[in-house]
Amino acid sequence: MTKSILVINGPNLNLLGTREPEIYGIATLDDIKDSMIGKAAPLGLSIDFRQTNAEGEIVNWIQEARENHQAIIINAGALTHTSVAIMDALLAVNTPSVEVHLSNIFKREEFRHHSYISPAAVGMITGFGAIGYLMAIEAIDNILN
Ligand code: DQA
Repeated sequence: MTKSILVINGPNLNLLGTREPEIYGIATLDDIKDSMIGKAAPLGLSIDFRQTNAEGEIVNWIQEARENHQAIIINAGALTHTSVAIMDALLAVNTPSVEVHLSNIFKREEFRHHSYISPAAVGMITGFGAIGYLMAIEAIDNILN
């Protein structure tokens, strides 16, 4: 049976490709989505790829994942550093999650060094650009098998 991964992208990630490309790269969110689908298919994994600028929507999606998805990949954008609500949602569901960041958050401003997602995730991939999302699929494949 195909297993489904919910990929959640938070605020401002809809602007990828034009947003501070020296930090976040030139790949658009659609490019990342296409490459993830291509990587996941031969592994028997399907990708449900989403983006929102709204914190509550992310919380709703994580709660839904309980029923509909076997794993979560999440780049919560700036909400990484602020959202107790997203951490609590991830802790509430029994769905393994992998945290992704395009940039290396530990090389950047101090306020980006803390993540509320990390305590609820299996692990974090940070600093490898768009490839990090593909690395997260490999991690999920290992976790699920
Ligand atoms: C980000 C890092 C965050 O600090 C920032 O607010 C983002 C993107 C990343 O992918 O590198 O929006 O999550």
